Amino acid sequence: MDASARATVLAAHAAETCGCVRCPLSETRSRVVFGAGNPDAELMLVGEAPGFHEDQGGEPFAGQAGELLQQLLAGISLGRGDVYLANVLKCRPPQNRDPLEAEIAACEPHLFRQVELIRPRVVATLGNFATKLLSGRPYGITKVHGQEHEVALASATVLLYPLYHPAAALYTPSMLRALEEDFARIPALLGHAARAPVSWPGPPVAGAPTEPLVEPAGSRDTVQLGLF
Ligand code: URA
Repeated sequence: MDASARATVLAAHAAETCGCVRCPLSETRSRVVFGAGNPDAELMLVGEAPGFHEDQGGEPFAGQAGELLQQLLAGISLGRGDVYLANVLKCRPPQNRDPLEAEIAACEPHLFRQVELIRPRVVATLGNFATKLLSGRPYGITKVHGQEHEVALASATVLLYPLYHPAAALYTPSMLRALEEDFARIPALLGHAARAPVSWPGPPVAGAPTEPLVEPAGSRDTVQLGLF
């Protein structure tokens, strides 16, 4: 399928997803926030879930975190229209609570189809939820941010690049510095996606404790929760 055919299929999938009732978030959302940007982007960025502004407007990363993301993109000479922005969940969780495992499972086919149709070279995962889902590994973002890793995703091989979530970086200067440094490497990754990826720690040992995909209530930075 060429780029224009893939864009057409993506638009059809977006239209279909507007009526999605795969999970109970369909009862509380105002709008499905499917994704936005260049359907043939080399760089796709995947966040967690729509917040208040996104739920109202239908576009991902519309609030403060989106402004920071836009600044970071501008720093590497990219705009929102050059990349594709999406989230793990397409609908806002009530009160911006963390995504539930069942919601992630219900929604993930939409994200995988997006990856399949956009065929990005690099997928930057913003924060824990996107990183754990798309890497299929339990490692938290603090451990793996800035470490690119080749993964087979939706019938393609992409370079997964975990980054701190911009909402978390907004109020944590050390995280913001790390996010800026990690962002600065994106142009090189886009140009040299075939370079030897950094090795992540080995697979989890059976029976060993791992970090859950969905973290226990109250374990996250509460600043981040108020932002979406
Ligand atoms: N806005 C989004 O669209 N996604 C996030 O993860 C946070 C804010």
